[in-house]
Amino acid sequence: MTCSILVGGAWGDEGKGKCITYLCDNDKPDIIARAGVGPNAGHSVEFDGEKYGLRLTPSGFVHTDAKLMIGAGVLVNPDVLFNEFENLKKYNVKERMCVDPRCAIISKDHMERDVKSEHLAKKIGSTGSGCGPANSDRVLRTIDLAKDVPELEEYITDVSLAVNEAIDNGEDVFIEGSQGFALSLYYGTYPFVTSKDTTASTFAADVGVGPTKVDEVINVFKAYISRVGEGPFPTEMSQEEAESKGLEEYGVVTGRRRRIGYFDMELAKESCRINGATQIALTCVDRLFDCARVQDYSLLSAETKAFIEDIQTETGVPVTIISTGPDLKDTIDLRKELL
Ligand code: GTP
Ligand code: IMP
Ligand code: MG
Repeated sequence: MTCSILVGGAWGDEGKGKCITYLCDNDKPDIIARAGVGPNAGHSVEFDGEKYGLRLTPSGFVHTDAKLMIGAGVLVNPDVLFNEFENLKKYNVKERMCVDPRCAIISKDHMERDVKSEHLAKKIGSTGSGCGPANSDRVLRTIDLAKDVPELEEYITDVSLAVNEAIDNGEDVFIEGSQGFALSLYYGTYPFVTSKDTTASTFAADVGVGPTKVDEVINVFKAYISRVGEGPFPTEMSQEEAESKGLEEYGVVTGRRRRIGYFDMELAKESCRINGATQIALTCVDRLFDCARVQDYSLLSAETKAFIEDIQTETGVPVTIISTGPDLKDTIDLRKELL
């Protein structure tokens, strides 16, 4: 029995989508539960030759025997969810989805307030998905909950109860966080952050799991860093430099160009500490070093190994998953050796 939480180590877009898909396809957990803020997230999944951009559906959907759940702390936009049911029809996502009755609901009004707000849209550079205004209404206790939305009736399940029963029955539970550590309302670069804490403890609370039930916290970093929206970014490089290194990126939800920077060891250390990380997954290593699709650690160059070992030494957390390409097979899995 293992209860794992996967978290983003920096400003989101660390390649959580790929890591979650790999881990769920490989480990086959019984329940895959989505935590985090809501549909401001954009997770990229490449599976079976197709690309998917997900905002609410757990990225582990490719493991078709798992129950998929959205925890009480996550904001739900029913239109986004139903759209994903349609796009993911061949994976029976709709039939497997459970939504906690206590999830708060994003309305058109929340989205309008997000997009039209000078502060959120311009100064912070929000995703415009309505999450900030919705979480603020939740704090004011004026927002509608999923239990009051007739279209969601067939999906309503007490996620906390289901997850805790699964843990008690010795089943495996995988909790997917969204966003990233440096976007946390508490620990990130305030005010240039998202509308909620985004560390492992909050992700556990999002699905109603107590801290004593969690076995593994997997912290995901890219081999370089990206950030969308405004705010401090100590290791940022110029656009020209990012282009010359072939590190240009665009956002999944907003299509905005991402700012790019070097790996930030101080951020990594703090992120591992506050998340209580037990493992690190390092993605896009092939975009920084010449190791595309390598699946064997011994085939990495001395320079690549030194980069990885430095992260391990500085953070004190083993780098167990190394991603060398978008496909699930492009993964070095060192969990048997290191754990
Ligand atoms: P999260 O928001 O953390 O879930 O990240 P994401 O899944 O949104 O990552 P992003 O949108 O930045 O994904 C960028 C692209 O990189 C996607 O098409 C992924 O399939 C791909 N990708 C993920 N891991 C790797 C990797 O190790 N190497 C390469 N070359 N591409 C990767
Ligand atoms: P909001 O969460 O839409 O309010 O946006 C607040 C800040 O968080 C902005 O800088 C967004 O770009 C950023 N943000 C929110 N969610 C994500 C994500 O999933 N990936 C990357 N950045 C995000
Ligand atoms: Mg993303």
